[in-house]
Amino acid sequence: MNDLPLLLGISGASGSIYAKRFLLCAKERGLAVELIVTKNGRAVLRHEGCEDILQNCGKIHEIDNFFAPPATGSSCYSGMAVLPCSMGTLGCIAAGTSDNLLIRAADVCLKEGRTLVLVPREMPFNEIHLKNMLKLKRAGAAIIPASPHFYKHPETIEELADTVVEKVLSNFLHFP
Ligand SMILES: Cc1cc2nc3c(=O)[nH]c(=O)nc-3n(C[C@H](O)[C@H](O)[C@H](O)COP(=O)(O)O)c2cc1C
Repeated sequence: MNDLPLLLGISGASGSIYAKRFLLCAKERGLAVELIVTKNGRAVLRHEGCEDILQNCGKIHEIDNFFAPPATGSSCYSGMAVLPCSMGTLGCIAAGTSDNLLIRAADVCLKEGRTLVLVPREMPFNEIHLKNMLKLKRAGAAIIPASPHFYKHPETIEELADTVVEKVLSNFLHFP
């Protein structure tokens, strides 16, 4: 298992429950997680009744603080997941704008060859979204859409969300 902390970016797409379950599942596996939440991410967390996940969740880096460790490749992280990932944040990462700490941290992961998992949530995708996802995949990111599966017969919304979360987490766990 990797002892380095991983970064969780939360942007303003619907699907706060994925971030909530990710934090819980990562904790169960002993993974240290540091958070970066966009302004719109906070608004959607509040709207979807999940704002409490920001309490007692460990380190949260301010979105405008480019002096924070995730802004530089000199800081060591095992990688980053953006969950959920809005089309706005995805487009900025694809364009390399680095204009908030979440986008900069994702940019750092790509330049350092670290794991970057983006979990887009939109429906339907337009051509710009699809092109941005292809560009990011080619740049080294994993694109794991928030598309839960049903073949294990989930009985609760948490179990359903976990079908996505487990797939994301598998990118950060090293199996013998
Ligand atoms: C309740 C709510 C739900 C939203 N859901 C989505 C979504 O699922 N996907 C998406 O790309 N944008 C969604 N948006 C729009 C984004 O929040 C908006 O594009 C914002 O600029 C994204 O900012 P960020 O990427 O900095 O967090 C939603 C907005 C609101 C208020």
